[in-house]
Amino acid sequence: MSRRRQIYEGKAKVLFEGPEPGTLVQYFKDDATAFNNKKKGTITGKGVLNNRISEFIMLRLGEIGVPTHFVRRLNMREQLVREVEIVPIEVVVRNVAAGSISQRLGIAEGTPLPRSIVEYFYKNDDLGDPMVSEEHITAFGWATPPELDEIMSLSLRINDFLCGLFLGIGIKLIDFKLEFGRLYDEHDQMRIVLADEISPDNCRLWDAQTLEKMDKDRFRRGLGGEAEAYQEVARRLGILPESGPNDIKGPEAMQ
Ligand code: TMP
Repeated sequence: MSRRRQIYEGKAKVLFEGPEPGTLVQYFKDDATAFNNKKKGTITGKGVLNNRISEFIMLRLGEIGVPTHFVRRLNMREQLVREVEIVPIEVVVRNVAAGSISQRLGIAEGTPLPRSIVEYFYKNDDLGDPMVSEEHITAFGWATPPELDEIMSLSLRINDFLCGLFLGIGIKLIDFKLEFGRLYDEHDQMRIVLADEISPDNCRLWDAQTLEKMDKDRFRRGLGGEAEAYQEVARRLGILPESGPNDIKGPEAMQ
């Protein structure tokens, strides 16, 4: 790790300079934080599991034509990604009320929403990632109106696809957070691509039968069993690291 130039250290990941121009190495840590870094801890093995889970999901999304920053997994904790200019917006898609929407609007957790709802938060730790509207995003130039249209339509496609993927393995996708970036090609043409990660760190995943939480809410709420929950998500996706890098079985169908 020490030989490479570190570009950025976030709460759950570190970005290093990649082997070729325009690439980065994304390293997944076991560190977990919640409530804007006020609660800190580690979830043993989380980095390894999230590296695999995010790889799996990014590849499946790539297959249905969603452009992503993912290039390939390098090892247990690292993946090669394209260097993008991150749009400073966290996009949350919700299917069922939980977390901040339940608190903000007084909707009981577990209440299905009338339709999928997209929310935007300005990525700024000092301000605690405040919720913002499309008006704020375009007026302050965080994204242009066409970029935001693309972000919204990609987010809804990702939601449709992931709802089906998870339901097929007995998991309800309650909500999740996405980040997007601008990728410039050799002719300086720009396109919006999915960046960051998709893992139980930034999704709410409930067992479809028991409604048991299988995501970072176990850590946020001090429920315990977070490592086992992440492992169970990976197991159901057919990608437990124990099965070996060349032995990806694919998702296990459930009733
Ligand atoms: P929220 O209900 O707390 O707004 O969270 C909505 C979703 O976004 C949930 O799946 C957790 C995820 N999330 C992050 O990935 N990072 C964050 O900083 C926050 C607050 C939520």
